[in-house]
Amino acid sequence: MQQLFLIGYMGSGKSTLGKALAAYYSKPFIDLDAWIEQKEGGSLSEIFSTKGEVYFRTKEHEYLQKIINSQSSKIVSLGGGTPCYHNNMELLLSASNTQIIYLSASVKFLSKRLYKEKNERPLISHIESESSMQEFIGKHLFERLSYYQKANIILEVENKTIEALVQSIVS
Ligand code: S3P
Repeated sequence: MQQLFLIGYMGSGKSTLGKALAAYYSKPFIDLDAWIEQKEGGSLSEIFSTKGEVYFRTKEHEYLQKIINSQSSKIVSLGGGTPCYHNNMELLLSASNTQIIYLSASVKFLSKRLYKEKNERPLISHIESESSMQEFIGKHLFERLSYYQKANIILEVENKTIEALVQSIVS
């Protein structure tokens, strides 16, 4: 396996698991959101508020394409929406020597976690109660599932330690 991509809804732990896998395999790690922030010179919240989501999705697609084309061995955590825009999921699935892992978790689990961390996430920062968060995520995750479920591997992440998740990927 040359490149491993982690996909899944916001709050599913893509970045944390990505770093742990990179350390385990001694491979470079790329977090696509952080990569975009660095290349564009601003936080995601700034990019969304000054340039808008369409601009963000275009850049997200361009940087993803470059990362896939670079072909070097690495672990990459994508943004929650990355597989659902442009032809990103097709690009990932047709790349050679690539594994795509979907980190799956329930609406309840994601809502609880994201309500506490909503401020850094422009798509959900306006949501004002945990029950509205649950309602939003219920619909949003349902819309995205058909993309996520095309992954090569589906991994249930809820209530599992990072060590256990690394071990299940390794084996
Ligand atoms: C998004 C998820 C975020 C980030 C952006 C949009 C989404 O990434 O790319 O705010 O559309 O779900 P995380 O999943 O890493 O929070």
